[in-house]
Amino acid sequence: MARNTIDFLFFQATVACHFNTKFASLEKMTDKEKTIIITDEHVFAAHRKKFRGWNTIVLKPGEEYKIQVTVDVIIEQLIAFGADRQSFLVGVGGGVITDITGYVAGIYMRGIRFGLVPTSLLAMVDAAIGGKNGIDIGIYKNMVGLIRQPEWILFDIDFLKSLPLIEWRNGFAEIIKHAAIRDAALFRLLQQQTLTGFRRQPKLLERLIRTNVLIKMKIVTEDEFEKGDRKLLNFGHTLGHAIENQYELSHGQAISIGMTYAALLSEQLTNFKQAISVIDLLERYGLPTRAAFDWKKVEKVLAMDKKKSLVGMQYVILKKIGDAVIHTIPVPELMNHLRNLN
Ligand code: GLY
Repeated sequence: MARNTIDFLFFQATVACHFNTKFASLEKMTDKEKTIIITDEHVFAAHRKKFRGWNTIVLKPGEEYKIQVTVDVIIEQLIAFGADRQSFLVGVGGGVITDITGYVAGIYMRGIRFGLVPTSLLAMVDAAIGGKNGIDIGIYKNMVGLIRQPEWILFDIDFLKSLPLIEWRNGFAEIIKHAAIRDAALFRLLQQQTLTGFRRQPKLLERLIRTNVLIKMKIVTEDEFEKGDRKLLNFGHTLGHAIENQYELSHGQAISIGMTYAALLSEQLTNFKQAISVIDLLERYGLPTRAAFDWKKVEKVLAMDKKKSLVGMQYVILKKIGDAVIHTIPVPELMNHLRNLN
């Protein structure tokens, strides 16, 4: 029988992951009087009863609100609640909520404690894990933020009952990414299963979430500040982020297109022969693999990318399924390759 709680050790923090745990257990994990929940209107409306009796800040939903103005709104409400250094924040929501909660917890009174309850598949397998948090500035995603770990993360798949299909697909984009860079067995499982199959089998879904949390936690605990292997998690994200806010794609759609180009680029730069398997798998989970873009706009955003060094862009490519490497490539050369793949 798998354990429900696993502690992950970071340099300065321990993060307890409570798998297969009901939201109601929150009562035992944090002092209600000192706790303030941050959520959004969608999650609040779909799970109103769960929030009864908790101090709650309800935000407008959507990536367009992952901005400084929202941070200011939250801070004003925290002040109105009388929040102090003993207060505890709990982010209950998708990636926008987990990111913004971690960020506010990092800066309010120079830092207060926090926990996360991811409610989307994407947040469960990716956004809530790793401690990176922050906000977007215009079209530049996650331009401002910090790395700070939550004390715990609670996983309750009950929340997924209200998740729209597009959000399931977004989660599978990150799951396919984990499989492509680190886990060939997971890649094969995904090839055999379907999104509907996972939705209908809670035990299989629990295991899938746990496997993905373990993959990401192993990478981020070994390299919290992204000096080495953590960069591999950016597979599909360089181009993905460059197109996400410009074309109003969901995160999963954007990185799916990013992974397609990265897989094709891998065939040009390494001996990788399985781009077609990556593309087929993305399509199997309802994700787009191609789009027409304005490459000039893409180049402008890539020029500001955080993964850029003096030598060039650190691009993640595949050697084989389950085995990724970083390839440093000057931006003009990268643009030529990418344009030729179109
Ligand atoms: N919050 C997502 C990460 O740290 O990668």
